[in-house]
Parts: sequence; C-alpha cells; structure tokens
Amino acid sequence: MNQSVLFVCLGNICRSPAAEGVFLNLIKQNGLDSQYIVDSAGTGGWHVGKRADSRMRFAASKRGIEIPSISRQISIEDFESFDYILTMDKDNYETVMSLFHEQALKKKPIIKPILSYSSEQSLKEIPDPYYGGEDGFEIVLDLLEDACQCFLQATMNRE
Ligand code: 4NP
Repeated sequence: MNQSVLFVCLGNICRSPAAEGVFLNLIKQNGLDSQYIVDSAGTGGWHVGKRADSRMRFAASKRGIEIPSISRQISIEDFESFDYILTMDKDNYETVMSLFHEQALKKKPIIKPILSYSSEQSLKEIPDPYYGGEDGFEIVLDLLEDACQCFLQATMNRE
C-alpha cells in the first residue's frame, strides 16, 4: 500500500523541498519509489510558483540529489491527503497544528517534527538557512539525510 508524506517548512523553497529531494532519492536507491507519494509545502505563500532556492539546489546536486519541487502553500485538503505531515521547525509545527481541525476530517495524518525521526536526539529543529551562508545548506542536508533514513526505516514495512 502507498504511504504519503508531506514535508513542510515556511517558504517551501529551502528545507522542505530539500527534504522532498532527499527522500525521493532515498526511496529510489532502495527500490521503494512506487510505495511512497512525496510532496512538500510552505506555511507561507510568498514564494508560490518558484523553484527551490538555487543555493539549496546546488548544495543538493553536489550529493547527487535533485530537487523537483515548485513552491506551494499548505492547504486544508493536505490534512486528508497525506498520511504524514513532517515539519522542519517549531514555528512550522505550530502553524500546521493551528490549521488542523481533527474533528472535521475523515482521515487524520500523523503530524510530527521531522527530527523526531533523527538518530541525533538533541536537535529539535532544522535551522532556516535562508539568510545565512553556504554552510547552512550543508547542515540542512546532513540533518535531512539522517532524518529521512530514520523515517524510511520506521515506515517502510508498514501495511
Ligand atoms: P524555507 O526557508 O522555509 O526553508 O523555505 C525560507 C525561505 C524564505 C523565507 C524564509 C525562510 N523568506 O522569508 O522569504
């Protein structure tokens, strides 16, 4: 059975598109690409229609990871469409939870910070790299590669 995951950050041009690219790459490498539906979205709408930030795409390409996403804002329908909604930081999590009206839904997603799947339990948030230097993009990818691996391990054998 297909499982679906939506990665969420603020602008949907840096962290959540990178998470989408990292996870797509991982499931492809493991021959599991037909088993997951993968997407990303932002809590804000400022960058809707744009490709991921070129600095993020460049950092990912050096690891052989393509980032295909076009920015979009999270919608109420996403809460019924996805099994998992994984947020990058505390603000994203709180915004997603404020939009989530459980009682109105037929199907409920699991909403969690992505780093709840990390093997490094001390960090709770993926830092926003947008206003920082190149290093920030590498740190984001390091954290996402680990978290996506843990998420895959936790979900790959689920019926
Ligand atoms: P993201 O990064 O949430 O990882 O996509 C950001 C992108 C844009 C802005 C902030 C964060 N911005 O303020 O425009």
